[in-house]
Amino acid sequence: MTHDDDNGARPDGAPRQYATEYHAPVLWKHIVDGLITDPDGVYVDATLGGGGHAAALLDALAPAGRVLGIDRDPEALAAARDRLRDDREAGRFRALHGNFGDLQQLLDAEGVIPVDGVLLDLGVSSHQIDEAERGFSFQQEGPLDMRMNPRAGLTAHQVVNAWSEDELKQALYRYGEERRAPQIARAIIAARPIETTAALADVIRGAVPERDEVKTLARVFQAIRIVVNGELEELERALEQAESVVRPGGRIAVISYHSLEDRRAKRYLRYGNFEGEPVRDLYGTLIAPWQEINRKPLRAAEDEVEANPRARSARLRIAERRDDADAGPPVPTP
Ligand SMILES: C[S@@+](CC[C@H](N)C(=O)[O-])C[C@H]1O[C@@H](n2cnc3c(N)ncnc32)[C@H](O)[C@@H]1O
Repeated sequence: MTHDDDNGARPDGAPRQYATEYHAPVLWKHIVDGLITDPDGVYVDATLGGGGHAAALLDALAPAGRVLGIDRDPEALAAARDRLRDDREAGRFRALHGNFGDLQQLLDAEGVIPVDGVLLDLGVSSHQIDEAERGFSFQQEGPLDMRMNPRAGLTAHQVVNAWSEDELKQALYRYGEERRAPQIARAIIAARPIETTAALADVIRGAVPERDEVKTLARVFQAIRIVVNGELEELERALEQAESVVRPGGRIAVISYHSLEDRRAKRYLRYGNFEGEPVRDLYGTLIAPWQEINRKPLRAAEDEVEANPRARSARLRIAERRDDADAGPPVPTP
């Protein structure tokens, strides 16, 4: 399959721009080439966002091919539905509000299992970060929210203002890999109540040397966002369920943006567990639900990073669902 540099083309030949103000889909050509095994198939974009990857998939599929999008953010669903109105009206695209941690249940209700492929493009969209009132950005003043689904669940305000010093410290270590977690947790407790992202950013700045401010802010905001959205737990649930919803020979593509995500994706797609331990049958054959297509994660080329700095940290892993019957030695014929 060939593509020109930034745009794709609809099946009728009309060009379509995938990067929009809402979000620029990272590594979209690799997604199209690596995820589609049947152009007439059903593909799930479980992190729909602004619908950039979904648009690229729809354009690359045959007219009978379909994309089902999932997002927990109602704003993302509205943006993607609007953008993909023609595909929706043609019955090729549907958008569902939900958590990809409930993948199996969501797809079961749609009656589409088994599907041909699942995409997980993790984290938050540029739009979510750009909207100050969503509270994801340490560069803007906004409420301490950080919920991907603003209609439900724990907020960053609750974490920052109600968690104990020890809980905060553990969260910063675990989800931000932040070595100054004790000082930062202590500073947060001392500064309470903290009402806005800008106030939290000031507290963090005051707790670390100036040269490390930006990296620390990024790590602490990441840690709180991961806690608020249960991101790693939901990722594990989605990966485990993908095994039951993708047909043998179908594929999964996971784009991660930091090592906590990538480690989980790597271990699961390589070994079928999150401990990263090979499991073998009586004959010594590796039992794993997936066959990696690329052992090393794919990274964005320099020109993509230049156009979209967010692509710098992206790592893409693609794997193919094995046929369970392939495990073990061939059955001897009588
Ligand atoms: C990086 S953006 C995806 C952008 C999309 N690929 C595009 O081209 O516009 C990640 C999206 O996944 C959504 N998301 C993250 N975790 C989710 C979860 N557990 N369930 C459903 N959606 C989730 C976020 O709300 C966000 O819109």
